[in-house]
Amino acid sequence: MCGIVGYIGYEQAGPFLLDGLEKLEYRGYDSAGVCLNDGKELVVKKAKGKLKVLKELTDNGRKLDGTVGIGHTRWATHGEPSDVNAHPHLSESGRFAVVHNGIIENYQQLKDYLTSKGVVFRSMTDTEVIVQLIEYYYKGNLIDAVIKMLEKLEGSYALGVISRENPDEIIAVRKESPLIIGLGENENFIASDVTAILSKTRKIYRLENNEIAVLNRENVKIINTDKEEIRKDTETVNWDINAAEKGGYEHFMFKEIMEQPKAIRDTISPRIKNGRVVLDDISLTAEQLKRFTKINIIACGSAYHVGVVAKYIFEKMLRIPVETDLASEFRYRDPIINDKVLTIVISQSGETADTKEAMKEAQRRGSHVISVVNVVGSAIAVESDEVIYTWAGPEISVATTKAYSTQLAVIYLMALYFGDMLGTIVADEYKALVGELEQLPERIENILQHKEKIQYLASKYFNSRDIFFIGRNIDYALSLEGSLKLKEISYIHSEAYAAGELKHGTISLIESGTPVIAIATHEELIGKIVSNIEEVKTRGAQVMCIACDNHPEMENIGQTIYIPKVCDMLLPSLTVIPLQLFAYYVASLKGCDIDKPRNLAKSVTVE
Ligand code: F6R
Repeated sequence: MCGIVGYIGYEQAGPFLLDGLEKLEYRGYDSAGVCLNDGKELVVKKAKGKLKVLKELTDNGRKLDGTVGIGHTRWATHGEPSDVNAHPHLSESGRFAVVHNGIIENYQQLKDYLTSKGVVFRSMTDTEVIVQLIEYYYKGNLIDAVIKMLEKLEGSYALGVISRENPDEIIAVRKESPLIIGLGENENFIASDVTAILSKTRKIYRLENNEIAVLNRENVKIINTDKEEIRKDTETVNWDINAAEKGGYEHFMFKEIMEQPKAIRDTISPRIKNGRVVLDDISLTAEQLKRFTKINIIACGSAYHVGVVAKYIFEKMLRIPVETDLASEFRYRDPIINDKVLTIVISQSGETADTKEAMKEAQRRGSHVISVVNVVGSAIAVESDEVIYTWAGPEISVATTKAYSTQLAVIYLMALYFGDMLGTIVADEYKALVGELEQLPERIENILQHKEKIQYLASKYFNSRDIFFIGRNIDYALSLEGSLKLKEISYIHSEAYAAGELKHGTISLIESGTPVIAIATHEELIGKIVSNIEEVKTRGAQVMCIACDNHPEMENIGQTIYIPKVCDMLLPSLTVIPLQLFAYYVASLKGCDIDKPRNLAKSVTVE
């Protein structure tokens, strides 16, 4: 939930730390800080608010002195956002400093213990116990003190530690929170994710749970908690460095919307060979597949909305019952899951705590888990039984767009691949669907070229207090996503409803001028949704429609954005584009901080 970065080398650490924090700011942005060893002391600079406050304070890191340092960008859990609660935290004597991502569950107990020993705490955070414990246990050997401290911690953490006593060392350790080590020439790095260090190196180690990295300028040594050395293979990251830059666009969100054709192409092309879907990523045989009596999909937020789309698609094409669950609910409802259930877990970051824990629950109950993940080597990718990567590249904007679209693309690939194995799709339909899937990126490009109409409609709606989204069948799943996208970045209250459900209560909220966005792409239900639109219009609603271009008559019903008519399965990928653009333009007109909406963070590593 927070971003960590660290540097040890021969250059001044400040500018790199500030640059790295900028790349990680999407992980949390209520305060930020750095700590450098200036040769004599550990010097901390931290500030409440967005990173720009710290940048101004330190002249983009140039005012800081030292070639060893750690930095942090925070999303508060324990202790309100403030200067004092911002990381890094120093021990009482100022000899040790720590940055932390995660939650220490037993911090109160540890704090009470240390307080009884006379330790004075400065902040309200759980993190401070970590650094105070290190000082408490320090008897001349930093690694020993860190290991002793780790024995006491319960919870999740990625940590970076520096010390005045060991000026040529950074210690890094993780459990259940991501942390990578970057390897350079006479300089080494730590970071929550690769985007922070791509400008310096592509060679990394991914730390596993309870591995401790000891970094100096020339070497990185990985040890376990018994101080035995661990031999690890390095990994080379192939993400394009430009992907983590705005590249001339005003916002990452807009850039990522525009990148969707490429992201989908990158996700599907390697998996379609000679007109057939080939999922080398998974090893399930037809025999094994036929044994499953149910598919269970688990995810959060927009990834959950992909799961709602998948339910409609899989049930129709595979004829297997599908249950799509919010990960945060799944774990605590004693789900009926066993080895006859195939579980599909969807996550962009691969680190979402709710999703990860729900996945483990499904595994404990005997279910085979396939994950659909964007971040290579992330916890969910590694801990699931099989993983299908979405090749969206780094997604920086907090509101997901291209990851959502590539997740949908993987759902189509799975539907075709499994449908073929199970014999539930006939050959002609299969061929036609694969052909249309290959054309999907072009169709999206086409919608993106006509974005001005959406911008115009956004200008008519951006002052609204509430906006409703309605749809039926798969269009209902898209309503959920359209509504979430709008509310999270524009702060306009919004709700999504299955159109047939409105009259069971919600319609009482419709009054003169209430905006309703009706998604009407599902051919079989056009008549039904038109009736629902009439119901709200009669009560005064101002209606905007998203419809397929084979229904020009929709123009008489409401202001309409047309998308190309394609087969039902692929429509969500087209429908979502105007919804994303609409949310983006509304938020832009309102002057919102689009890439970093208030109270949110990209990677939700706490429950
Ligand atoms: C909304 C959004 C979130 C995420 C959710 C799951 O735009 O981005 O709702 O979809 O937090 O995150 P991942 O996919 O990383 O598990």
